[in-house]
Amino acid sequence: MAKRVVLAYSGGLDTSVAVRWLREERDLEVIALAADVGQGGDFVALRQRALAAGAVDAFVVDCVDEFAEDYVAPALKANALYEGRYPLVSSLSRPIIVRHLVDTARAHGADAVAHGCTGKGNDQVRFEVSTRALAPDLEVLAPIRDWDLNREQAVEYARRYEIPITVTKESLYSIDENLWGKAIECGVLEDPWHAPPEDVFTMTVPTATEPVELTVSFREGVPVALDGRPLRLAALIAELNRVVGSYGWGRIDMVENRRVGIKSREVYECPAALALVMAHQDLESITLERDLAHEKIRLEPRYAELVYDGLWFSPLKGALDAFVDHSQRFVTGEVRLRCEPRRCTVVGRRSDVSLYDYGLATYDAADRFRHQDAEGFVRLWGQSVQTWAARQERRDEVVESPVDDPRR
Ligand code: ARG
Repeated sequence: MAKRVVLAYSGGLDTSVAVRWLREERDLEVIALAADVGQGGDFVALRQRALAAGAVDAFVVDCVDEFAEDYVAPALKANALYEGRYPLVSSLSRPIIVRHLVDTARAHGADAVAHGCTGKGNDQVRFEVSTRALAPDLEVLAPIRDWDLNREQAVEYARRYEIPITVTKESLYSIDENLWGKAIECGVLEDPWHAPPEDVFTMTVPTATEPVELTVSFREGVPVALDGRPLRLAALIAELNRVVGSYGWGRIDMVENRRVGIKSREVYECPAALALVMAHQDLESITLERDLAHEKIRLEPRYAELVYDGLWFSPLKGALDAFVDHSQRFVTGEVRLRCEPRRCTVVGRRSDVSLYDYGLATYDAADRFRHQDAEGFVRLWGQSVQTWAARQERRDEVVESPVDDPRR
């Protein structure tokens, strides 16, 4: 049996009760660890709450830049959208939290880590599979999956041990937030026919009225500047969340397939993530050669699925990262985004290494395309279909006019 555990601590009711529960019911020393991945909030109060709940120690690690550079950037390069829509907000934060849980466990001689997930979600899968990948020797505890406390009992448990928690209106919903966006579940949203109430939205409240244009610069697939101003990736994402969000754009309302076999209605706000994936895909449209572009598009859903399914640290994910990184060598250039109320669109793109060739594309006098080459190319392209039509479909037998002669 484990003696000392590092718990992924969010500061909410469940993980606060979990601190005490692991101590009382499992006789463990609990170290609380909160990872700052851009969710906001008062980390001083959070640390205090963990200690008040009975943790022997509590740490807050600032990993916003690490999250942006080592987790969000690879996902963006892969245009990773689960089921074609969800930019993997929560899915991306679990592996970085696990990395820090494991580091903390090693530094403080803990023999287990713990998370506050229920048995119905994806996050338990991500925590546990990632821990197995990074530290197969550590035990993984899931107190909230094990105990049989309902919400009222959890509140009562917190009262009994004088754990300072605030039960707010917010807690009508289950919310998970970070730099890459916000996931909102539960409450009235559990009826997929029920439109999301306007008050669930905080990042995409429409306030801006005048259209604006933004230029995003990419280097090797990663955004590096906004309107010519170089920015750290985390700062660039935060700024785009503010600007694009203020146009009321960046919402997703979907029913998705969880790894554990449940269909679940999810509402997301991801203004920067959706704008950046759109801009990045657009820059790839001028910088990736056709076969590479098509193959990459085929692999992208698989990449997103692996991340969603908790396989961030896995051999296939590593191999796909190598493919994606290689593909990004020339994804350098600029994309113009236009924001209008409730809308964000790409209105221009350019690159010094663009494969767009005006002389080949134009219908004007500057045309340098060799039109005469097209005839033979097209004939050979269709050769096998023509043979099939004549020999097997016998289409040549019904020919009446020489114009329709398929042998021509
Ligand atoms: N459905 C999303 C996912 O699986 C969001 C999960 C949000 N997590 C939460 N504890 N509210 O990635």
